[in-house]
Amino acid sequence: MSAVHDDHLLAPEALGDERAVEAALRPRSLEEVVGQHRVRDQLGLVLEAARLRERAPDHVLLSGPPGLGKTTLAMIIAHEMGAPLRLTSGPAITHAGDLAAILSGMNEGDVLFIDEIHRMSRPAEEMLYMAMEDFRVDVVIGKGPGATAIPLEIPPFTLVGATTRAGLLPGPLRDRFGFTAQLEFYDASDLDLIVHRSARLLEVSLTPEGAAEIASRSRGTPRIANRLLRRVRDYAQVRADGVVTHEVAERALDLYEVDPLGLDRLDRGVLDALCRRFGGGPVGISTLAVAVGEERETVEEVAEPFLVRLGFLARTPRGRVATPAAWAHLGLSAPEGAPLGSDPGLFDVD
Ligand SMILES: Nc1ncnc2c1ncn2[C@@H]1O[C@H](COP(=O)(O)OP(=O)(O)O)[C@@H](O)[C@H]1O
Ligand SMILES: [Mg+2]
Repeated sequence: MSAVHDDHLLAPEALGDERAVEAALRPRSLEEVVGQHRVRDQLGLVLEAARLRERAPDHVLLSGPPGLGKTTLAMIIAHEMGAPLRLTSGPAITHAGDLAAILSGMNEGDVLFIDEIHRMSRPAEEMLYMAMEDFRVDVVIGKGPGATAIPLEIPPFTLVGATTRAGLLPGPLRDRFGFTAQLEFYDASDLDLIVHRSARLLEVSLTPEGAAEIASRSRGTPRIANRLLRRVRDYAQVRADGVVTHEVAERALDLYEVDPLGLDRLDRGVLDALCRRFGGGPVGISTLAVAVGEERETVEEVAEPFLVRLGFLARTPRGRVATPAAWAHLGLSAPEGAPLGSDPGLFDVD
């Protein structure tokens, strides 16, 4: 990635060596899950009902931005059902045959987790519809006129799909999930609980004010909260007496260039380009990405959702536009005739 985002400190995806630490911090039961009360209650009911009927639960779709707990919930579903979890991802399933191989190895009640399910190939997707609905697939042997389809029965299983882009899922696939959980960004008090919980597990000593400071800069995302906690701990051990106080957290996060709202260099770069170089927009997302030297996907999936959520950026049919709050955050005043007046809602798409 480019210099703008090379530290990845606020990247919502898991980074290299982070997976092992994450595994240690993952809640293992619904009970341990912090926040997401609605999803937790609904999912709890779905699982409880399945247990009473002694049937595999309905297929579950988990959707939401990275780092909010989709993989965690998939593991919890299997754990709560006392079932083995089989784990794969959309990009790993390039042919229908890959999926057929996975499905044919399933046992009754198994949970199949397909991460990034929106990135599966078309033919695999079509095979999946059938497997989800009828617990059967047709495996095609041979090619051309001589090809034959051999039906294959699959024991009832539960599919758990995760996606950051529910909108990219074809309707027929979306419709076959009995339950869809839309994960939301976490509020500061939930993140605060998560920081305290992780600190306990990692044996980091921190004060309530230190935890609150980390929570408030974590952009509503548990993965980021956990990552900032570890960086602040480093700072506390090297530059202080090991205790994460408010002051230590503040100094460390300033050093890592995470601002008090949780904006990092990429977010500020995007805002800055939008206001200073494009007069507040409207400007296309690809142009904006080029201006900050970043991949379009990164700007669209990482920076933009958070900027929209803060009310700094609005998506309009003609492109991205800075709101008055964005100008104010940069310490600038919106020029006369800036594209957005006082009602960003007027311009909203989707
Ligand atoms: N509700 C939660 N309570 C506590 N920790 C959480 C919660 N959701 C996520 N986490 C933490 O955040 C990390 C990232 O979660 P993960 O399930 O991998 O996110 P996703 O799959 O949506 O990208 C996990 O390691 C876990 O420690
Ligand atoms: Mg995940």
